[in-house]
Amino acid sequence: MTQARAYTNIALIKYWGKSDITWNLPTSSSIGLTLDQLYTDTRVDLTDDLKQDLFILDGQLASNPRISKVLDFVRQQTGSHKYAKITSENHVPNSAGLASSASAFAAFALAASDSYGLPTDRPSLSRLARLGSGSASRSVYGGFSIWYQGYDHQSSFAQSILDPVDFGIRVIDVLTDKKTKKIPSSQGMQRAQSSLDYSNWLSQSKMQIREMIAAIKNKDIEKIGLIAERNAMGMHALNRSADKPFDYFAGETWAVINDIHRLYHAGIPAFATIDAGPNVKVITDSRSCQKVADQLKNFGEILIQKPGPGVVHV
Ligand code: DP6
Repeated sequence: MTQARAYTNIALIKYWGKSDITWNLPTSSSIGLTLDQLYTDTRVDLTDDLKQDLFILDGQLASNPRISKVLDFVRQQTGSHKYAKITSENHVPNSAGLASSASAFAAFALAASDSYGLPTDRPSLSRLARLGSGSASRSVYGGFSIWYQGYDHQSSFAQSILDPVDFGIRVIDVLTDKKTKKIPSSQGMQRAQSSLDYSNWLSQSKMQIREMIAAIKNKDIEKIGLIAERNAMGMHALNRSADKPFDYFAGETWAVINDIHRLYHAGIPAFATIDAGPNVKVITDSRSCQKVADQLKNFGEILIQKPGPGVVHV
């Protein structure tokens, strides 16, 4: 038996497209910041009497084809024929809407690698986590990490940019909507790739990766926030200009963004980023986070997060 814990990460430069669905290779590199409040504990038990993999999520029998996809790869690498019982618990402070495939597959990669005797160095864990969910490749690391696009299974993995984080960056979740997302990210990105602006977004993203690494190294929260907001807005513009247009934003999303802009123009560092759903995350600093939280608390539940650690055994 082995059990691992991994935390969610927020993408500052988004992964929003696949060049290979089987191996889950992205169309661009991405940068994430692992956070400290939301995590998944996953335990893997190998027993001889199982006839198939068994997955228990938050106490309930569940099914997720990506779990067996990862385990089939592990079995193929090790020559093992054993099936596994996977027990996974999402630890989120306030119920629904925050569970993440990033923390889940990062924890699973360590627990599974350990159980089957595969290497547990971070690049190897990052590759395995990526097979389950792209963003999970970054949750293997604490602090800031970059997932290099690569061109095959071996070359597509994340590496640390800065961990521990020695400056006061904060990320505030504003939970205006706790329902599960309408369009899963894998579907959303496939549709976004049909946008005529897609190749333009990719070249922008390449430049933003370089700028973001410099901003992180300079501990420049304003630059980090400005680049991240621009990158996220670009991602959502792709969705609106896709062949079959769609939008993750809801009315509340714009209202929160407008308030964030008002704060910024009043001299408070506050920048918006949004993933595949309507909830806004605010990038800010330790001095301003309480003020920002107070300003936005009427929109819904607020969660203030700091940089968090990489995947560990528990
Ligand atoms: C908008 O990692 O959930 O959060 O690889 O299909 O599991 P799959 O996609 P997933 O996509 C995350 C998309 C995003 C941006 C990001 O985290 O980089």
